[in-house]
Amino acid sequence: MTCVMAIANQKGGVGKTTTAINLGAALAAKGERVLLVDCDAQGNASSGLGVRVVDAEATLYGFLCHDVPPPLHRPVDSLPLWLLPSNPTLAAAEWELAAQSGAETVLAHKMDGLWQDFDAIILDCPPSLGLLTVNSLCAAQSVLIPLQCEYFAMEGLTLLLETIRKIKMRWNPHLRIRGIVLTMFDRRNNLCHQVAMEVRQHLGGRVFKTMIPRNVRLSECPSHGLPITVYDRNSAGARAYMALADELLETERCGG
Ligand SMILES: Nc1ncnc2c1ncn2[C@@H]1O[C@H](COP(=O)(O)OP(=O)(O)OP(=O)(O)O)[C@@H](O)[C@H]1O
Ligand SMILES: [Mg+2]
Repeated sequence: MTCVMAIANQKGGVGKTTTAINLGAALAAKGERVLLVDCDAQGNASSGLGVRVVDAEATLYGFLCHDVPPPLHRPVDSLPLWLLPSNPTLAAAEWELAAQSGAETVLAHKMDGLWQDFDAIILDCPPSLGLLTVNSLCAAQSVLIPLQCEYFAMEGLTLLLETIRKIKMRWNPHLRIRGIVLTMFDRRNNLCHQVAMEVRQHLGGRVFKTMIPRNVRLSECPSHGLPITVYDRNSAGARAYMALADELLETERCGG
């Protein structure tokens, strides 16, 4: 069964895109056919894989708003990883979608015809709870929430969980929280240990065992347009995302 997973947290810079790219690539390295959908007008998931599209119609914007066939790219020859890219024109989609009835479920309907070609579809959400994130959560079966190991890590989590609960009630009863992944963990920093402990105390079994370390190779790889598993497969970052992929595959893929 295809797993459609949104990577969401309205807090900015917590590692959503880094996780979307590198977890997607790690799953692909394990033989899964993965589609990464860049649902953020910043287009970081696209540029991070070396894909920069100028023509708005050849992006998620055209697919969502103008019935263009999905413009799929295969950025890394060696991996069964496809990308539906975005660029800043996606910002206009928020307005254009808002004018339609059923604005929240446009992506879910459009993706109906895409499911069967992939084992996993990963939706990289923007740092807001606006219509593009709502569309992603309506299209997904599960949500993976990256939390950065820093003070105020859980700030905003209540609002995100409440949003997920409302989306379940109104549009997508099957939506489940797949898990919370702690990102940018620095083992030399006491605060990181404290935050990780607190998050586990509060959220217990929902937190993945694998933590993503703060790793300079992870911050370098987007400028080379490569996922970490290709850029430096022996780095701590690559090992962590491979372990997270294992953890996901060991358990029911879309289960909560
Ligand atoms: N584990 C890590 N180690 C080192 N740097 C990281 C790590 N994870 C993310 N970064 C860096 O932190 C910054 C923010 O990460 P990222 O873009 O993945 O966050 P985001 O949640 O997608 O941000 P936004 O909310 O703007 O979409 C980027 O510069 C990224 O390279
Ligand atoms: Mg991002």
